[in-house]
Amino acid sequence: MQPTGYAQLDTLLPRLATIESLDAAALDAEHTAILGRKAGALTEASKAIPTLPPEQRRGYGAAVNQVKAAFEAAFTARRAALGEAARRKQAEGIDLTMPARRRWTGGRHPVTATMDEITDIFRGLGFVVAVGPEVETEWFNFHALNFPADHPAMDMHDTLYVAGEPVEGPHGGRQLLRTHTSPVQIRCLLGQPLPVRAIMPGMCYRNDPFDPSHAPAFQQVEGLAVDEGISFVDLKATLVHFARRFFGETTRTRFRPSYFPFTEPSAEMDVECQLCHGSGCPACKGTGWMEVLGCGSVHPQVLENTGVDSERYTGFAFGMGPARITMLRHGITDIRHLYEGDMRFLAHLAS
Ligand code: PHE
Repeated sequence: MQPTGYAQLDTLLPRLATIESLDAAALDAEHTAILGRKAGALTEASKAIPTLPPEQRRGYGAAVNQVKAAFEAAFTARRAALGEAARRKQAEGIDLTMPARRRWTGGRHPVTATMDEITDIFRGLGFVVAVGPEVETEWFNFHALNFPADHPAMDMHDTLYVAGEPVEGPHGGRQLLRTHTSPVQIRCLLGQPLPVRAIMPGMCYRNDPFDPSHAPAFQQVEGLAVDEGISFVDLKATLVHFARRFFGETTRTRFRPSYFPFTEPSAEMDVECQLCHGSGCPACKGTGWMEVLGCGSVHPQVLENTGVDSERYTGFAFGMGPARITMLRHGITDIRHLYEGDMRFLAHLAS
């Protein structure tokens, strides 16, 4: 703008031209220095107006207002320019083509996923899913399954008993947290007409320490088939089919003799180690095999205990621990990772 002829005002004019290059903080400071209500240079200049003789007031007052208007316009323009630049910069940071962030909606626990897969394979073979209570009597958990009273076989299970009176009657005894899912076999045999083909998932409890290879609460999946003419061949064929579906078509299996009071003969099924594929590694202790389940032909005494004619009917049963199978699958060496509920670990395997 043109000089006003008033020295006090004209010294401010060079600062007008610098406003358009100030950043936000410098702009605020300059605004205060020029137009600040307390000590701004132009505020000071206007204070002189009333002290001037009347004939000078009009000209000087007009000059002050002109300079003020010029500064105000420059400040407003610079503020608008800075605001626009900030908006543009922010907009440049947003990538509208980026996929939206997915919300974590939860997932199946890795052991649940294994249980579901196991039950699905057996459902495909005509097995129905059955469940039973977690608090059982001694009769369902042990005696009906042919564990003789006070037989050392019961020491295989470190049982957690429930406080309270024993249950009266032929199916009673002390109450306990079931130590395996095998009592659900008994409930299936008692509760429905034959034949029966059932797959029975559920929680089991034992008075075990929580260490790398034990959990006091863990899942099992039980299987039972009882009909006329079922033999050990049916057991082997069914379980080998399961192993191939679950672990892969070329997976090798082997059966080793074993002992359970409720099956005769009894066996353990091993599958080729999932980590080294048979060549031997620390996970399979160099054997190349991993134990996945216990099985056998249903003991005739178990059939008789549930009122089934053991001359006419035969069957097979098996039981496996899906947590152990999940560990074999993923090469997990400590069962506590699966049962401690640490999401940093579980979220990697959730499905
Ligand atoms: N109940 C047995 C266990 O807990 C497993 C099993 C089930 C074995 C059915 C044979 C038949 O070890």
